[in-house]
Amino acid sequence: KIYPVILSGGAGSRLWPLSRAALPKQLLPLVSDKTMLQETALRLAGWPEMMAPLLICGDEHRFLVAEQMRDIAIEPLAIMLESVGRNTAPAVAAAAWYLQALDPQAIMLVLPADHVIEDRAAFHAAIENALQAASQGALATFGIVPTAPETGYGYIRRGAAIAGSEACYQIDRFVEKPDAQSAAGFVASGDYFWNSGMFLFSAASYLQELKQFQPAMAGATEAAVRLAYRDLDFCRLSEKEFAACPADSIDYAVMEHTSRAVVVPADIGWSDVGSWSALREVLPRDAAGNAVRGDVYLDDVSNSLVRAESRIVALIGVQDVVVVETADAVLVVHKDQVQRVKQVVSHLQSTG
Ligand code: GDD
Ligand code: MG
Repeated sequence: KIYPVILSGGAGSRLWPLSRAALPKQLLPLVSDKTMLQETALRLAGWPEMMAPLLICGDEHRFLVAEQMRDIAIEPLAIMLESVGRNTAPAVAAAAWYLQALDPQAIMLVLPADHVIEDRAAFHAAIENALQAASQGALATFGIVPTAPETGYGYIRRGAAIAGSEACYQIDRFVEKPDAQSAAGFVASGDYFWNSGMFLFSAASYLQELKQFQPAMAGATEAAVRLAYRDLDFCRLSEKEFAACPADSIDYAVMEHTSRAVVVPADIGWSDVGSWSALREVLPRDAAGNAVRGDVYLDDVSNSLVRAESRIVALIGVQDVVVVETADAVLVVHKDQVQRVKQVVSHLQSTG
């Protein structure tokens, strides 16, 4: 049995002004008429080994998350609430303690709530390929062939093939968010994958590694789950214990240190939709390369993304731009400069 754990606590500030603290990326319908979270849950539906998903999110998003699951008729195993965000290592740990109490053999499939996977069959096959290693105690990652020296990803150097497992390799080295020079070297070497940010492992193995490398995190999350309490349909982690937990991502806290990591290459049409230009690439485009949503007029426009939420937006004689209009903000940015959008958010936060 595989228990999906959907991480739904991120901010998605590079997709401003659509993505906001109150309504972040994973809770928005960015690629289809379903939200990214709904797509993530639906991607698993109808698969016999898959149990109902465990969702973990910030307190402030609980009603939206619950409603979005109701809308697609998926009843979660639980919706776990964090009073404060402590990044992904503690969120995964809380899920692991919860699942281990339910089923000591539990295998968990950790999934970010905000990724696109175009080839569902290949995604399922990759998980099947990782299952044997995960059942034997490995921490499995899914490797994406890199296309650019992105610094926002984890990089995985593939080691020896694992005997008896199809398409599953030891990990020689895991480097989270390298500097630009290292990233360029990794991509040029051809020996590295990007870490997709999805993981398959038993709750027991993850907790064992966490106890070894991050004992304070293991202790705090164990207590937060032991003292968790029911609030309506939610499972609320004990606030005091969870707030006392150190914050870090699973990649830095565990994956860079463990020797039990393996990688399954995954050619699954993956994108983490980390920016407006990444979103343009996964959306349907017209012959001139434009991805358009809403009430939009284009004349002599190419390779652009235009999204109108509440007004008519007209573009004439421009190329390579991103224009996003919402009721209270408008973004215009060159499509090669979209990484700088998150600075708008920091600026707005610092000026109130
Ligand atoms: N519940 C919860 N609580 N979820 C969280 C929290 C938290 O405190 N922080 C982040 N998340 C969720 C995000 O919503 C997202 O779905 C997922 O966890 C991953 O977090 P990100 O913040 O998006 O991580 P990242 O993009 O910097 O890096 C990870 O993903 C890359 C691929 O997209 C790493 O795993 C990298 O190694 C990987 O390459
Ligand atoms: Mg991400």
